[in-house]
Order: sequence, then C-alpha cells, then structure tokens
Amino acid sequence: MDQIRILGGKPLSGTIRISGAKNAALPLMAASLLTAETIRLSNLPHLADISTMTDLLAQLGVEIRMDGLAGNGGHAGRVLSLRAGAIAGTTAPYDLVRTMRASVLVLGPLLARAGRARVSLPGGCAIGNRPVDLHLWALSELGAEIELADGYIDARAPKGLRGADIVFPRVSVGATENAMMAAALAEGETVLANAAREPEIGDLADCLVEMGAEIEGIGTGVLSIRGVESLGGAEHAIVPDRIETGTYAMAAAITGGDIELKDTRCDLLDGVLDKLRETGLNITPTDTGFRASRAGDNRPLSAVDVETAPFPGFPTDLQAQMMALMSVAPGASVITETVFEDRFMHVSELARMGADITVDGASARVLGVDKLIGAEVMATDLRASVSLVLAGLAAEGETVINRVYHLDRGYERLEEKLSACGAEIERIKDGQ
Ligand code: EPZ
Repeated sequence: MDQIRILGGKPLSGTIRISGAKNAALPLMAASLLTAETIRLSNLPHLADISTMTDLLAQLGVEIRMDGLAGNGGHAGRVLSLRAGAIAGTTAPYDLVRTMRASVLVLGPLLARAGRARVSLPGGCAIGNRPVDLHLWALSELGAEIELADGYIDARAPKGLRGADIVFPRVSVGATENAMMAAALAEGETVLANAAREPEIGDLADCLVEMGAEIEGIGTGVLSIRGVESLGGAEHAIVPDRIETGTYAMAAAITGGDIELKDTRCDLLDGVLDKLRETGLNITPTDTGFRASRAGDNRPLSAVDVETAPFPGFPTDLQAQMMALMSVAPGASVITETVFEDRFMHVSELARMGADITVDGASARVLGVDKLIGAEVMATDLRASVSLVLAGLAAEGETVINRVYHLDRGYERLEEKLSACGAEIERIKDGQ
C-alpha cells in the first residue's frame, strides 16, 4: 500500500485551488438515475469515491462520459456526463457498497424511477456503525415497502411513491438526500422537517430544481417538495469542497504559513472561519475565496474549544484536523464530537507524534505541546488521515503515513497541492 512521507517544520506559502465537493458530487451523480436525459456535472473532483460511484452507476445502466478537463490547464475540475436512458439493473452489490457507504444514495432514485431497489446494507466503518434506519424509515413514509434480507435492503414501490409529511428525529445528511430525491418524483407534496442543511444538500436541491423538480425552503431545515411526473437534464457546477477548504486553512495555521485558497467561498464555512480567527489565524476574503495567514505573526496559536454539530455548526469532518491544530496551541482545548459515536481514532496516532490528548467519552481534552515529533503513523478514516498530514507538516523530522488510500478517497492531488506551497511531501508507491 502507498505511503506518504513528510519532512515537517516548514511554513507553507502559496496558492491552493479547491476542488468540487466530494459530498456534493456523490448524491449529484446518484440523481442522474432520476431522469432519462443527460446530467453534466462540472468541477468534478478526481477522487477514488467518484470512481466507485461511476462503477456502480454504470452497473445500473447509466452511460457515463468524462468530458475531459474544463478550464485552466485541466485543474478546474473534470466534466462528467451521465445519462440513465434506461435502468438496466436495480442492485447495488455488497462489494461496492462496503467500500463506499454513499452507494446507499442510489436507493431513493432507483425507487422513484424504477419502483424497486436492492442495496447492500453498508455496514459500519471506522467512525461508527452508521446505520441507515432513517433512510429506510423516510422512504417507507413515502410508500416504499422495505424488507431486510441476506444483508440487503429490498425496497419496492410498485404503485409509485406518494408525498408525506416527514419529521426527522435526528438530522441526517444522507437520509435527507435520499428522501428529497425520492420525493421529487412522488405523487403529491412532501415536507421534510429537521432536514440537514449542509451546503451539499442545497447544491443537490439546486440541481434537482434545474432538472424540473419543485422544491422550496432550500438552505433551511424544512424542505417542501411537490412531486412531478418526470425530470429532465441539467448542467451543474459542483459546489466547492468546504472540508478541503477548512483543511488547507488549518495547514496554513499549523505551519505558521500563508496560503491563498482559490475557487471556494467563505459562506460555506463561516462557523469554521470564526473559530480559526479565534486561534489567531488571519482570514482575508478575496474575489475567489480567502487568504489564510499567520506569516509574520510571532504570537502562539490560541487554544479554543470546539463542539461539532450539523450545519451551520462546526463540521464533524473538520474535527480531526482541528484536533491536530490544537495539539500545538499552548493551553487546554476541549473538542467534543456530537455527530458520530467513535470519531477519535486519530487521537492515538497524534499521541505517537507527541500530542497530549485525553479522551473522556465524547470529548477530548488537548493540552498544547511545544512541538510534535515526526513518526510512522497509520490512517484509519478519511479525515483522521488528513489530520496526520497536518501534524506531519508541523512536526520536527520525518512522518510516514500508512494506508493513504483513505486520503485518496477525499483529497484530490493532496501532495501536489501542498508541494506547490513548499511542503516537503512525497508519495512512496507500494514497495518502492
Ligand atoms: C455524510 O455522511 C457525509 N458523507 C459524511 O462525510 C459526514 O461526516 C456526515 O454526512 C455528517 O456531516 C457524505 O456526504 C457522502 P449522517 P452521512 O446521516 O449521510 C446517524 C466524509 O468524511 N444516522 O448525517 O452518513 C449516523 O450514524 C464523510 O466525507 C443514523 O443513526 O451522515 C451519524 O451518527 C464521513 N441513522 C449521524 O446520524 C441513519 O439512517 C449523522 O449521520 C443515518 C445516520
């Protein structure tokens, strides 16, 4: 398996172009199942998860074409065309679903378009058992008949789906997406209350509206969807990745550097930017994003407390990265994870680099140390992996990160983007 080797201790300086959001691209690709016409997605990031979703959709009969690279030298995101002229299959097999939970997002569209879907239960992952009960409950409220057998979800809607009033007992990004896509073709009106409000939900809703869906309340926790007979095609630019944006802003903070983040938007992560300003990072908005800098600022980082929450709260997907940053901020900070039940896998690896972190249930108390020391560490999930990259960039000496396939799922050309800012980082191909 590939490794990433970092020689830390250098302030980063330069420009990083932010890619399209993985967590918007995946549901947008699944939405292609809702129509027989073509969906063209631009600003598509080049990630392992996107390839997995492409493989799954191809098995279901979606014609997929990569329309090359759009704009300035091909790094302005790829352009993907998807056309589900006819649904050739309605099964999402275990071998694909187990590698990418987001495969469950084909459930709602298949039910709505083809009246049936057989999707492997995704199983747990490194950050928790991650059930899909809210997905199944919402779809059954829309009239689906759902059985669980042999590790599969067997869902049918022989008479089509019908609108319903749905109040989610807890906020779920994926369940909101599945329900919204299914409701777009259901008969009658659906109201989704306590719906997730992440920007990726709004991006999916905007594309569905372009396809002819009738959705009101976009950006709020209450979505009203009036079902239509059929949906058409769309041309849609994928929203910038707010998690990638926050990650690289923290790279500037932890190395005392100065990075301009391009092709992104401050409003996608206001809460995060406020928190980062509290740590002492200077954030200056620009026309195409913002500049994150601690260059020339000799004051130490300030320790701040963080509690994750659904949008607009502090994103759980930036919790591990914030913990790496706080591990070198003098003083004590408390980081509380409220979204997932087991998302502190990075703690033990950061501790091997000298971090002083004590976990107590859903909270971790971080006592900042003068410096981290490079070590060989192991990635466990996508965001834990990148927290180790941040730690390695700041640490004294060499850090080698194993199992970097986790990183490839969610960070496009990470080494390239960081090297361009002066990081000494390289990928060691398996066994070289
Ligand atoms: C999405 O996962 C993201 N993935 C996750 O990003 C992100 O961490 C998460 O939302 C929260 O923001 C994609 O968009 C592909 P949830 P999702 O349903 O939809 C529980 C990354 O690193 N829950 O909002 O699976 C669940 O266990 C990934 O890019 C149920 O109990 O998240 C969790 O504790 C990691 N029953 C909480 O709700 C359900 O049916 C939030 O999960 C569904 C979820």
